Amino acid sequence: MSTPKPLDPHDRERLIAAALAARQSAYAPYSKFSVGAALLTADGSIVTGANVENASYGLTTCAERVAVHTAVAGGRRTFQAIGLATSGGCAPCGACRQVLSEFCEDLLILLIETDHDNAVVDVTLAQLLPYRFRLEAE
Ligand code: THU
Repeated sequence: MSTPKPLDPHDRERLIAAALAARQSAYAPYSKFSVGAALLTADGSIVTGANVENASYGLTTCAERVAVHTAVAGGRRTFQAIGLATSGGCAPCGACRQVLSEFCEDLLILLIETDHDNAVVDVTLAQLLPYRFRLEAE
């Protein structure tokens, strides 16, 4: 498997800014933990998501899944990178890793730490989810 290509510096800055902006739209009255996600698609457009919680906690949707599902529903299935903005620079949860892997052999993931000057750590989906589950679609 080839490792993800480095991002164009301008796209990288756009992606980080979009993830930070998306985080402002999080609906997280229960956990108070806001997450912003921004997906850079193959055509250079950016699709964002934020976590949306529910009083019935299990119905909460993570920011990454909001972004992926919005992108796919809008006809974009090929991604260059995802930016994830959280306090703590958290990595995607296991469920979101699996959802990302449905559309990406590998993916560059920028973990943006909002509490520390928006410091960024680069990881890849293959690092976070080796031996992923997959079925061969027809
Ligand atoms: N959350 C995300 O949005 N993405 C993740 O990868 C992990 C967790 C959200 C869900 C919930 O609203 C809050 O963070 C605390 O778990």
